[in-house]
Amino acid sequence: MATLAGKTILIIGGSSGIGYGVAKASLLSRASKVIIASSSKAKVEAALVRLKGDITVAGSTVEGTASGEVVDVKDSKNVKELLEHVGEIDHLVLTSGDPVRTFFPDMDLDANKDIFDVRFWGGFTAAQAAKIRPGGSITLTIGQILVKPKKGWSLTSGVLGAVDSLTRGLAVDLAPIRVNVISPGLVKTEFLDGFPTEMRGELEKHANALLVQHIGQPDELAEAYLFCMKCQYITGQRIEVDGGGKFI
Ligand SMILES: NC(=O)c1ccc[n+]([C@@H]2O[C@H](COP(=O)([O-])OP(=O)(O)OC[C@H]3O[C@@H](n4cnc5c(N)ncnc54)[C@H](OP(=O)(O)O)[C@@H]3O)[C@@H](O)[C@H]2O)c1
Repeated sequence: MATLAGKTILIIGGSSGIGYGVAKASLLSRASKVIIASSSKAKVEAALVRLKGDITVAGSTVEGTASGEVVDVKDSKNVKELLEHVGEIDHLVLTSGDPVRTFFPDMDLDANKDIFDVRFWGGFTAAQAAKIRPGGSITLTIGQILVKPKKGWSLTSGVLGAVDSLTRGLAVDLAPIRVNVISPGLVKTEFLDGFPTEMRGELEKHANALLVQHIGQPDELAEAYLFCMKCQYITGQRIEVDGGGKFI
């Protein structure tokens, strides 16, 4: 059974939600070094404290270490500096995502063209600048809206489609480094706090309707990211971890 023993993993977006789950699962899977990065220094520091506690509670012997970095993926210079600073890594995971913007038809296009900055340009720049060791991987993140858009989400689904395509392009460009993308359905994270109030009321209803009858947990999503890191025979793929959400 493959583990992450001896591996260094950088998780951009690791200070909360799914990325935090990947950081915890990586340490429990024997990663040597886990680096979590995001734009808020306070969030990175709080996540490191929480991580220490969670790993202790998990009761396993964790050999690896966790550290934090501050990066704003909207700033390509900042992203390149981070990748230069961390040096060689085995796996790069991107779960960084800014709050959802739902709007149509009254949206101000000029004020929203930056919607590609975090998920698309952030992912592209990090993939371009990362120094990944042989056998390593990059895992990006999109969302179920790609295949099942909701009313008002067309721009968001467009961004996710761009990242989905980017994944296959990068898998070819960076081969033999493997590049995959995870597409989560609804997951219980801080991200949901940014949803419009009326939508949050719908979440419980949605959870009950899902085939698995519960909202996803970050730990459940982390399994897919670990698989993409460990399995040497997967690249250019999208894995949908959505509790069967696309069937309802
Ligand atoms: N939760 C869901 O139901 C769900 C469903 C489908 C898809 N997704 C996608 O999955 C990804 C992760 O979601 P999540 O639920 O884990 O969200 P989350 O808990 O809000 O985590 C997002 C992470 O991204 C970081 N981030 C945001 N802007 C950044 C920036 N400019 N530079 C660097 N880091 C930045 C945040 O930290 P800072 O604030 O410190 O920067 C945080 O660590 C997102 O792309 C989201 O769209 C989530």
